[in-house]
Amino acid sequence: MDVKKVAVIGGGTMGNGIAHVFAMNGFSVNLIETKQEFADRAMSTIQKNLDRMVKKEKIDEGKKKSTLDSISVFLDISEGVKDVDMVVEAVPENLDIKTSVWKQVDEAAPDHTIFGSNTSSISITKLAALTSRPEKFIGMHFFNPVPVMKLVEIVRGLQTDDDTYDVVEETSKKLQKVPVPVNDAPGFVSNRVLMPMINEAIFCVGEGVATAENVDEVMKLGMAHPMGPLRLADFIGLDVCLDILGVLYEGFKDPKYRPAPLLVKMVDAGKLGNKTGEGFYKYD
Ligand code: 3HC
Repeated sequence: MDVKKVAVIGGGTMGNGIAHVFAMNGFSVNLIETKQEFADRAMSTIQKNLDRMVKKEKIDEGKKKSTLDSISVFLDISEGVKDVDMVVEAVPENLDIKTSVWKQVDEAAPDHTIFGSNTSSISITKLAALTSRPEKFIGMHFFNPVPVMKLVEIVRGLQTDDDTYDVVEETSKKLQKVPVPVNDAPGFVSNRVLMPMINEAIFCVGEGVATAENVDEVMKLGMAHPMGPLRLADFIGLDVCLDILGVLYEGFKDPKYRPAPLLVKMVDAGKLGNKTGEGFYKYD
């Protein structure tokens, strides 16, 4: 199957980036949000990121215009998915929200439509089982900032069939991304490896081993990471990090994934990182 039209559900940090890359690479995109103000915010972020690309001479004004013209906004899931070849869901990491979204999508999407979730840690097998077509359900895990990061971690659920995998792999290449297949397991590969590092960095700060700045310097200058783990935790969102550690902890029942007490306290205090203006660092 040749995917031409996609629906992206959710226009937050990940969703607007996903809509951006699909539209920029020739796909027609239905961007679905719950309220017009959220949709407007998503479109203005996409516009800003396209402006940044024009300034860096990665694309020209014509490409920016055609990208924006390829995105249509919908406030109703049934309307937005009724004629698409693929759905990519990027709503908050909450099973109740995802369940409600996937039930609506399942009822309204055409039979041939492939279902992809950008979940960072919820089981693909479990989400697939909410629908009547688990063989067409797959994880399509993008990385922030989506227009920049090359990886799509493609997560196969227990029932995902080979045809679905092949279409999603091909589609990811058309987005100029590098698809890497993994099987469904808590945290997949990316977050199973990344989150313990971030958590351990937070333990170091909490135990007074080093300041956040110095932990980050060690990892940037000693390991050539583009961002230190604490700056990255702020960028991802401390609440998201805590949620993912919870999934790892529950999924493996292994104490090595217990969240650092300082992480729990910061989330309780509402210091969630970039999005709230403060985490391990302060932001304007
Ligand atoms: N849209 C388009 N372009 C963007 C962009 C965006 N949102 N954000 C940055 N860029 C571009 C810039 O224009 C710049 O382009 P250039 O190379 O042509 O100059 C390039 O990206 C680098 O940006 P900056 O110069 O502004 O800043 P940095 O060099 O500090 O890079 C960064 C910023 C790309 C974010 C880099 O620090 C980085 O790679 N950090 C690590 C990010 C990471 O690990 N992401 C994964 C998070 S985990 C995740 O998402 C999974 C989830 O499940 C938790």
